[in-house]
Formats: sequence, structure tokens, C-alpha cells
Amino acid sequence: ASADIGVYGLGVMGANLARNLARNGYRVAVTNRSAARTEKLVAAHGDGSEGVFVPAADIDRFVASLERPRVAIIMVLAGAATDEVMEQLAARMEPGDIIVDCGNSLFTDTIRREAWARARGLHFVGAGVSGGEEGALWGPSIMPGGTPESYDRLGPMFEKISAHYQGQPCCAHIGADGAGHFVKMVHNGIEYADMQVIAEAYDLLRHGLDAAPATLADVFASWNEGELDSYLIEITAEVLRQVDAPTGTPLVDLIVDRASQKGTGKWTVQTALDLAVPVTGIGEATFARGASSGVRQREAARALDGHAGGFGIDSSDPGARDAFIEDVRQALYASKIVAYSQGFDMIAEGAAAHGWDIDKGGLASIWRAGCIIRAAFLDDITRAYAARPDLPLLLAAEPFATRIQQAVPSLRRVVALAAVAGVPVPVFASSLSYFDTIRSPRLPAALIQGQRDFFGSHTYHRIDRPGTFHTLWAQEGRPEEQWG
Ligand code: 6PG
Repeated sequence: ASADIGVYGLGVMGANLARNLARNGYRVAVTNRSAARTEKLVAAHGDGSEGVFVPAADIDRFVASLERPRVAIIMVLAGAATDEVMEQLAARMEPGDIIVDCGNSLFTDTIRREAWARARGLHFVGAGVSGGEEGALWGPSIMPGGTPESYDRLGPMFEKISAHYQGQPCCAHIGADGAGHFVKMVHNGIEYADMQVIAEAYDLLRHGLDAAPATLADVFASWNEGELDSYLIEITAEVLRQVDAPTGTPLVDLIVDRASQKGTGKWTVQTALDLAVPVTGIGEATFARGASSGVRQREAARALDGHAGGFGIDSSDPGARDAFIEDVRQALYASKIVAYSQGFDMIAEGAAAHGWDIDKGGLASIWRAGCIIRAAFLDDITRAYAARPDLPLLLAAEPFATRIQQAVPSLRRVVALAAVAGVPVPVFASSLSYFDTIRSPRLPAALIQGQRDFFGSHTYHRIDRPGTFHTLWAQEGRPEEQWG
């Protein structure tokens, strides 16, 4: 035995995680289903200058090279490949050894795998890892689930290789079995909403100001200096500035406008439906990707007249131009508050449903660096939950309560303008509706309860008396009965 930890699966993410571990002083066993990848990693980085790699030609030698209790990271495609590697590792491991899945696995698979491994005396850790390829190499945000004992062994290594925010590691034990992959899934859902609101802001500015992408790159770069300071705003400016060299055209105008997805956003929405948590921002963002990819439907609808008007912004008037840009910035910020508030609601509900004790402030704190949704904003979320861990609604807590109330007039103007101009803003619009829904003292849900009782005797409660009631709608005089 000569390695502190092993990595099975040397695609870009696995290779970069292995290099990060080696650079941080851990001896890393590396192996891959096809030996070529192992050889490639060792040829490129195995000269000792990046730390110590222990290449293994096969899984037997890989497991044999690990010091006890063994820690083996799996970094392969989520799904059947993960099961296959887990079973092969488990067959060669001993009680107390730890298998870590750093892929984007569905949290229910992780719950199942953890139970399977536990029955064999092994630890199974589903760890969310965010930050893309660069993050894996230089410091990702890491969200491990699993037993506290497994974290005792694994935590120090992961904390060392993770990103750091003001000296604090962006890695913390999230909770039992699937908790780590659950929060990573919600992270990705929030990522979808964040990306969509940025895209909506871009689209509105582009049409409203008739502005070139390079001009809008400057707008996003300036937004990145303020409260919207975040990785996604930063890279948006970079993408908008990119010019296709052969044609001299802004690259964004040459990219096919159909957004893909690997499935984590879809999982977030499916799970949110099961938990009955309205994650409308994430939902609309996920559906917007689907709508963009609906080629046949878009083709069929292309010629329809939307009777859209203009924006009516005189873009030669700097005052009008700046006011519109500021309105869009505020609308984006308000929608972002809604998306995160909903995402944290989902984490609270998921934790309650699965018996996880998730520290939401601690989670926000490890998203402050390393991950794709890293943003100055997460510092405020960290503080809000530190002040009150059982916050019922993030957007009603300071500083968000003040900020969303300030921003909402802009959000109303922007949604109204978008509606008149015929520019789709699904997340801006649904964020405003959500805000108006939850702050409303009385909702038309009362009418829906009446309808349900009418056609299906589904009963209703009254505001003035306790009990469960049903109206005998078909009888003369429609008398009411108390049913419970
Ligand atoms: C991250 C990213 C990463 C990845 C996802 C989302 O946190 O590092 O979320 O996990 O980019 O695969 O990709 P899709 O947009 O394809 O769903």
C-alpha cells in the first residue's frame, strides 16, 4: 500500500481531481477502465513536479495500493457505470473502507448505494462537486454526504483541495446518505435559474436598446462590480465579447439557440414536485431550455403574429437608456433572490423529508467560492441563516426583504414592457408572480377549494370556524355539512 487516496475514472474531471489531490501532497492512486487514460495522465503529469501518482493497471492493483481504511473516488458517468465500478471496488474492499462518488449522481441512487455499501460494512459517500474542470483542478466546492466517520477520514483531504473563501474551505459534511448529492442537484437547479435570468436580461437589453453584444458585455462587466458580482455574470461578459475571427461576427450570434441539459435541472424540478415546493424560477428555466430545443414547435409557430409593440426607449437619450439598464439590473436581482429563496426552501423540505440535518447557512458558505453559482450574494445568505437557522422564507429576511421591495417596481416595469414588446421572460415573470402570490393576504385558492368541493366532495376549511366542511351543492338551498 502506498497511496493515501485513489481516483477511478480519469476523464477531465477525474484527472483534474487527482492532480489537485497530488498537488496538495496526497499520494494518489489512479486508474481507468481503459489503461490509455492512466498512461496519458502519468505521461503528462507524472514526473513528480505535481506530486505523487501511483498508477494502477487494473482495479486489483488499484485497491491493493490504497492505505487502510481505503478511500477510492469514483469519477465516471452517473448511472449504470457508477454502480458497476462501485460493485467492483466493494468486492475488493474491507469493512471500514470508503467509496466516494464525485459524479453528478441522482441523490436517490446515492441513498440506495449507501444502504448497499453499509450492508457490507463499507462507507459510501455521495459528494457533490461543483466548479467545472478548472474547479476540479484548482479548488471546487465539495458537498459530501455519508456517515460522520467517513467524513473524519475524507474531510481533511477534501477541505484541503477545495476552494477557500477568506481562508475557509468550501467543503463541509452535508448530512447522511444522499444529502450531498441532493444539495448539489439543487445547486444545479439554481444554476439553471441564474443562467436563464441573465439570458432574459441580455435579451431585453439587446432588443430594447438595439445594442451590440460587445456593448452589453460592458454592461454585464459593470454589473459584476456591484451586488450582482458573480462568476456567471463575469463569464457572460466574456461570452458576449467573443468575436468569431473568420467572420468578424459576435460569436453569440453564430451559436445555435437551443439550450441543452444533462438532467440535473430536470431532477430538481421532478423532486420539487414530489416535495410540493414551488421552485418556479428553476422550473421555468428548465422549461425554457426545453422550449428552445423544441425545433418542430418553434418552426410551426414562427410565422404567427404576436401583435407585439415596441419598447419605446429612446436609446439616443442616455438618461432613458441608463434608466432601462438599471430597471433590468434590478429585475435580475429580484428574480435571483426569488430563485435562491425557492432553492433553499427546497433544501429545507428535502432535509425534513429525508431526516437530514442540513445547515443551510453552512451550505451557503461553501458555495461562496469554487462552484458555478459563486457570488457575493451568498455571503448575505450565509449571514441570514447564521442569524436565524430556521428562517421560514429567505426572501422575507434581511437584507433580502429590503432589497426585493426596492427592486420590485423595476421588476414590474420590466415584465410589463417585455409583455408589450413580445420578448419572452419566463423567469422574470414567474418570479414576480411568485412574489405577489406569497405576499398576498388572500388568494383565489379559496375558489379552487369551492370548485373541488362542488365536483368531488373534496371538502374545505372555513376561516371563521374549525372543522372540515362540505356543501350539498345539488340540494335545494345548498346546505353545508360538517364532515370532520
Ligand atoms: C457544476 C456544474 C456542472 C455541470 C452540470 C450542468 O456545478 O460544476 O453544475 O455540474 O455543468 O453538468 O450541466 P447541464 O447544463 O448540461 O445540465
